Amino acid sequence: MFGPVLLAASRSDAIRRAVSSAPVTRSVVDRFIAGERLDDALTAVRALTGRGLTVTLDHLGEDVTDPTRAVRARDACLALAEALRAEGLGARAEISVKLSAFGQALPGGHDIALRNAGAVVEAAAEAGTTVTLDMEDHTTADSTLAVLTELRRRFPATGAVLQSCLFRTEEDARALAGPGSRVRLVKGAYREPAAVAHQDRHRVDRAYVRCLRILMAGRGYPMAATHDPRLVAVAQELARRHGRKKDEYEFQMLYGIRENEQLRLAGLGHRMRIYVPYGSDWYGYFMRRLAERPANLAFFLRSLATR
Ligand code: FDA
Repeated sequence: MFGPVLLAASRSDAIRRAVSSAPVTRSVVDRFIAGERLDDALTAVRALTGRGLTVTLDHLGEDVTDPTRAVRARDACLALAEALRAEGLGARAEISVKLSAFGQALPGGHDIALRNAGAVVEAAAEAGTTVTLDMEDHTTADSTLAVLTELRRRFPATGAVLQSCLFRTEEDARALAGPGSRVRLVKGAYREPAAVAHQDRHRVDRAYVRCLRILMAGRGYPMAATHDPRLVAVAQELARRHGRKKDEYEFQMLYGIRENEQLRLAGLGHRMRIYVPYGSDWYGYFMRRLAERPANLAFFLRSLATR
């Protein structure tokens, strides 16, 4: 019931200012975000990789409407790639980027985002790692997948995210199930209209299974990104049925969510990658995490009330 309201709030500047400046917010935010600085993120990476997990790092930021901020977002990702190279972390840590942070919504934004993402993908390759393009709301999907196609010409291991909530996704999954393709399958974290997306969560789950079937039967590298125990079990069963070895697919979960399950799956020999967000622009990401689970919102409101 609160989900749609929180997702609408995630794009309101006024609410962003109020929530971001509430001093108490910090302790709740820390559950989901590794910290504000690159050093904080690297500390989290060392801790997680030390426990047998791999990571994908997200320098937080999105919906940029000012070209200088797009350049700053790119530079932050270049600094991240350089740190991964310097610390020799490329084998265990990759990078996730949002094209809206790289200027996708600016006039001529498709080309700007492609140029900025291209620079990051190249720096990541020099660090011995890859980049995955996060997927944002449905209006950006065509542009994001076209950027992916361009980037994969030189860097075929560049990954994409597909959202099972969207009607189009089974077709996208078929198009991206070929050799060398890396696809992270998620349910979808954005509020989408009924014209383009399932509104009922059971339909989203069933669509997730259909898309995962396509990816597991294909020749690419499926990345099952979900905390949903039923879907984790389905992924294990589909991998077994298609004779995939444990290094031919992976699980992904978000930093701070179902940590015991992350360790349990890694302990069974599965590849488990943790999405580690860091940076000061945490508002949109944080609100999507609140929207996913009413208990998070209750926790947040309680922390405000007890001040
Ligand atoms: P679901 O929401 O049904 O949750 C299943 C169970 O997981 C819950 O019952 C609860 O136990 C736990 N859980 C889930 N969310 C929680 C939370 N916020 N707090 C506490 N517990 C929680 N989306 C997108 O649109 N574009 C993207 O690029 C990405 N990228 C991405 C990367 C990775 C690695 C993950 C894991 C997820 C994303 N997502 C995403 C988010 C995704 O679309 C989805 O919103 C969340 O993963 C929640 O959906 P679940 O599949 O976990 O199921």
